[in-house]
Amino acid sequence: METRRVNLEAEQSELKVKDDLSEKAKLLLKEAATLLRNGELVAFPTETVYGLGANALDSRACNQIFRVKGRPADNPLIVHIASIEEAKKVVKTWSVQAEICAREFWPGPLTLVLPKRDIIPDIISGGLETVAVRMPAHPIALELIKLTGFPLAAPSANISGKPSPTEGDHVWQDLHGKIPLLIEAGKCQVGLESTVLDLSGSKPIILRPGGITLEQLRAVLGEVDIVDEGQKEAEGFIPRSPGMKYRHYAPQGELIVLKGDIQAKREIINKWSLARNSKQKLAVLCFAETQARLLEHIENIDFIFTLGSQENLEEAASHLFEALRFCDKQQVELILAEEMPEEGIGVAFMNRLKKAAGKKGLTEPNTLS
Ligand code: TXA
Ligand code: MG
Repeated sequence: METRRVNLEAEQSELKVKDDLSEKAKLLLKEAATLLRNGELVAFPTETVYGLGANALDSRACNQIFRVKGRPADNPLIVHIASIEEAKKVVKTWSVQAEICAREFWPGPLTLVLPKRDIIPDIISGGLETVAVRMPAHPIALELIKLTGFPLAAPSANISGKPSPTEGDHVWQDLHGKIPLLIEAGKCQVGLESTVLDLSGSKPIILRPGGITLEQLRAVLGEVDIVDEGQKEAEGFIPRSPGMKYRHYAPQGELIVLKGDIQAKREIINKWSLARNSKQKLAVLCFAETQARLLEHIENIDFIFTLGSQENLEEAASHLFEALRFCDKQQVELILAEEMPEEGIGVAFMNRLKKAAGKKGLTEPNTLS
C-alpha cells in the first residue's frame, strides 16, 4: 500500500475557526473522513503525540490498528471525541468527577476511564468493562472527528514498543506502506502522551502520568492516587491499565538515567565514555544549563542532545521522544539521560525515561558488550 503524506503545518493557525479552513485542509480532512468511514486507518496529529485513527464503532477497522502496530490484543484503545455530548454516548455513567475533569481539562491531554456502553466493541476495551475517552486539543484532530461523525479510536501512531511519534517523520518511519494517509502538522506541543485517569473506581487513580499533572487533578478533584509502577513487578499484580505491563518507549540502545548532583552525573558519563569501545556510539541527553559542566573535559561522546532549559520543563519533556528517536536513527548504543525532578510534568517524563532505561539492567561499564 502506498502511503500519502500531506503536511498541513502552514494551515494550522487557520484551522482554529472552522470557516477559516483553507481549501487544501478542508479537502484533505474530507478525504480522510471518507477513508475512515470506509474502515481505513489515518494517522493524524494531536497535541500529545501522533495518533493512528480508526472508526471506534467498527471492530474490523479497529482490528487493523492492532495488526498494523503489532499491538497485543489485550491492550485497549483510547476513544477520541469532539464534544462532551459525544463522550456521554460511549460511557454508561457520566459522573460528577468526569464532568469536572472535562470542563477543566478538555480539550486537552487527559483521558478518562469510565464504564463503557455496549456500542463500544470489545476489541477497543480489551475485554474490560470500561472505556478510555479523550477530547484532543489539536485543531486538526478535532476537525477530523467532527467531520467523520463518529468517535475515533487512536493509539499512538508507532510500532508497538517504540517511542511514540511526535513528528510526521516518526510516523513515516514506522508506518509508511501500511496505511493510506498520514496527515502532518509539525511537532506535537506536549510531546508525551495524555494522562490516563481511571474514574471507574471509588477513588480517582492515575494509570499513566502525562500532559495533565497530578497537582492539576488534585486541585479540582481533591484526592487522586497514582499507580505505583514498582507494584506491577510484584507477583500476581493485575494491572488496571493493561498497557502498563508492556515495555514502552524503548530506544534500540541501552539507556542509563543520570542522577544526583552535577559531580555524580559527570562521573557516570566519564566512566562510560572511557569504558566504551571505539565502535560503540554514545549519546548524552541533558539540559542547556548543565551541558557545559557535565561534559567538561569529557571528549569521546558522539552526540549531545539538549532537551531544553531547566526553566521550562514542559518544553524539555516535549523533546524526549524526539531525542530517543534521534538516537535510534544514529544507531546509538548507549544513551546517558539526565533526570528531571519528579513533580509536575517531571512525573510523566521520568515515567517514560525509566521505562526506556534498564533493558539489560546495566549498571557498570564492564557489563557493556
Ligand atoms: O495522548 C494520547 O493518549 C495518545 C493520543 C494519540 O491521543 N494516545 C495514546 O494511546 O497514547 P495508546 O494506545 O498508545 O495508549 C493508551 C493507554 C494504554 O496504556 C492503555 O492500556 C490505556 O491507555 N487504556 C486504554 N483503555 C483503557 C481502559 N479501558 N482501562 C485502562 N486503561 C486503558
Ligand atoms: Mg502508545
